[in-house]
Amino acid sequence: MRWLWTLLCLSVLQAARSEDYANNTSIQLFQQYVQINTTTNNDLTPAVEFWTTQAADAGVEMTVLNFTEGYPVIVLKWPGTNSSLSSIMLNSHMDVVPASESDGWTYPPFSAYLDDEGVIWGRGTQDMKSVSIQYLEALKKLKADNVTLLRDVYMTLMPDEETGAANGMQLFVKSDEFAAMNVGLELDEGTSYALPYGAIFYQDKSPWQIQIDCYGTSTHSSQFPATNNTATGMCRNVINKFLEFRDAEYVKYQAVGILNAGNYTSVNLNKLNGGTANNIIPSHVSLVFDIRLNITINETLFEAQLNEWITEAAAGGNVTLTFLQKDAQTPATVITADNPYYTTFVSVCQQQNLTVVPLVPPGATDARYIRAAGYPAFGFSPMPNTELLLHSPNERLNATTFLTGIDIYIALIKNLANLSGDEISADPSSYIVKTAG
Ligand SMILES: *[C@@H]1O[C@H](CO)[C@@H](O)[C@H](O)[C@H]1NC(C)=O
Ligand SMILES: *[C@@H]1O[C@H](CO)[C@@H](O)[C@H](O)[C@H]1NC(C)=O
Ligand SMILES: *[C@@H]1O[C@H](CO)[C@@H](O)[C@H](O)[C@H]1NC(C)=O
Ligand SMILES: *[C@@H]1O[C@H](CO)[C@@H](O)[C@H](O)[C@H]1NC(C)=O
Ligand SMILES: *[C@@H]1O[C@H](CO)[C@@H](O)[C@H](O)[C@H]1NC(C)=O
Ligand SMILES: *[C@@H]1O[C@H](CO)[C@@H](O)[C@H](O)[C@H]1NC(C)=O
Ligand SMILES: *[C@@H]1O[C@H](CO)[C@@H](O)[C@H](O)[C@H]1NC(C)=O
Ligand SMILES: *[C@@H]1O[C@H](CO)[C@@H](O)[C@H](O)[C@H]1NC(C)=O
Ligand SMILES: *[C@@H]1O[C@H](CO)[C@@H](O)[C@H](O)[C@H]1NC(C)=O
Ligand SMILES: *[C@@H]1O[C@H](CO)[C@@H](O)[C@H](O)[C@H]1NC(C)=O
Ligand SMILES: *[C@@H]1O[C@H](CO)[C@@H](O)[C@H](O)[C@H]1NC(C)=O
Ligand SMILES: *[C@@H]1O[C@H](CO)[C@@H](O)[C@H](O)[C@H]1NC(C)=O
Ligand SMILES: [Zn+2]
Repeated sequence: MRWLWTLLCLSVLQAARSEDYANNTSIQLFQQYVQINTTTNNDLTPAVEFWTTQAADAGVEMTVLNFTEGYPVIVLKWPGTNSSLSSIMLNSHMDVVPASESDGWTYPPFSAYLDDEGVIWGRGTQDMKSVSIQYLEALKKLKADNVTLLRDVYMTLMPDEETGAANGMQLFVKSDEFAAMNVGLELDEGTSYALPYGAIFYQDKSPWQIQIDCYGTSTHSSQFPATNNTATGMCRNVINKFLEFRDAEYVKYQAVGILNAGNYTSVNLNKLNGGTANNIIPSHVSLVFDIRLNITINETLFEAQLNEWITEAAAGGNVTLTFLQKDAQTPATVITADNPYYTTFVSVCQQQNLTVVPLVPPGATDARYIRAAGYPAFGFSPMPNTELLLHSPNERLNATTFLTGIDIYIALIKNLANLSGDEISADPSSYIVKTAG
């Protein structure tokens, strides 16, 4: 019967643990925030109200910037003792990608359900409402403990990261308000890994989205024009060219793995459109490819390569290429001993028993606009040993991992915001790699 007794003890312990979580105000705040449906393009008024309450509770100044109506950018300011030094910007985004119960969620995506094992379920639990609340709780704790920070610390909250930031970060980095913040370092989002360490992103890949339109002979489908004269035939040639390239890059990907995402160029054919009726040969077929360039590819040469493929595929016919998105490559943050922000970051995490490794993520984050503007940025979300569920059904986060993350940010903020004027260059761009691409 001993085993049964042990089992009983364990389940009692487990129940007590999740009850503790339920009464933990940091967890409650996280749940409250996840419960606000901030799917991109939704009305963000409830999120603005949430942050207004948090700023008031913390006793800090909050500003709402409205570059585009309906897309508020929120700034909370924790003043340091020497505001003439450059500041630390803790960025996160309010918006989340869509989630619907019918996609196979065990618990409703905006319920923030805390299960018996101490796991919080919901859209945004990994991407990235956890990080917003961790920043806030860490700053509140530092304030409550009377820890002085030398540098000003700002929390910024963006409205539309998930759809490319056209109304958020892209406008914010060009604003007077951003310039006035005198940013020295920005922290942004990272990702989860089912590995016992944390990733620190120092560069982003640039996304290109291209639409290819093929125009050919349209006629009754009992006719039999040359394959290369039809829109579908030309598209076949285009697809062959792109997928041959994809196959070659896939081999690279398999060799280096997702942890070296900067070394391969991903290509995916995500849309095929065309046709009018089942018995008419269509005059027009279009394709959309999403491409994420490797970090050293020569963009000029690559674009020339794409055009060459299109010309060959057209076989004398009419095929056009249109860029839907063409982000220029953005520079990397220095990750050597020459960057005290980096060495401090790595050693503080190590003291917190979290080994961090510098990586380039497969996707892109708002941090790329910061680096492009000449400021060092690191992407980091403290979620080691966590299945990657960003943008997936059943996105969820272990409450212990969430709470440990607050302690990590307490240590990070304390150390980063206390780097002295002598340790840090007054020119933030000195921590950006000069020769990108
Ligand atoms: C948590 O809060 C509930 C409801 O207020 C209370 O019944 C319970 O005793 C609390 N649990 C702990 C461990 O504090
Ligand atoms: C929440 O739980 C963590 C970990 O047990 C603890 O350190 C923290 O003080 C708790 N916070 C609150 C506000 O209860
Ligand atoms: C959340 O917002 C999205 C977009 O407006 C909407 O489609 C969805 O039904 C909302 N979900 C819930 C649970 O309200
Ligand atoms: C932005 O809009 C909000 C809500 O309408 C308003 O409260 C706030 O003052 C505006 N901010 C600025 C800087 O005008
Ligand atoms: C949550 O994380 C803690 C600490 O890593 C671990 O002990 C626990 O087993 C995890 N819980 C679940 C349900 O994975
Ligand atoms: C912080 O300072 C305030 C005001 O001096 C004091 O009341 C409070 O006890 C201090 N808190 C801690 C944790 O030292
Ligand atoms: C990725 O590319 C970089 C830069 O060219 C190179 O230094 C590194 O060794 C490559 N990594 C792998 C795993 O091939
Ligand atoms: C990126 O792609 C180019 C062209 O295929 C290749 O020459 C370069 O080595 C790749 N860069 C990395 C870091 O692997
Ligand atoms: C890319 O290649 C072109 C053509 O060879 C060259 O002129 C250009 O300098 C290269 N760009 C970079 C950034 O190396
Ligand atoms: C059709 O075009 C492709 C790509 O240009 C070419 O390889 C192929 O030989 C052409 N087929 C015919 C029958 O002309
Ligand atoms: C890190 O791990 C060591 C050894 O297990 C432990 O003594 C220490 O308290 C841990 N530190 C933190 C911040 O968790
Ligand atoms: C603030 O930092 C600047 C730049 O390092 C320095 O010149 C100034 O003396 C500092 N002010 C105070 C009050 O420490
Ligand atoms: Zn995100």
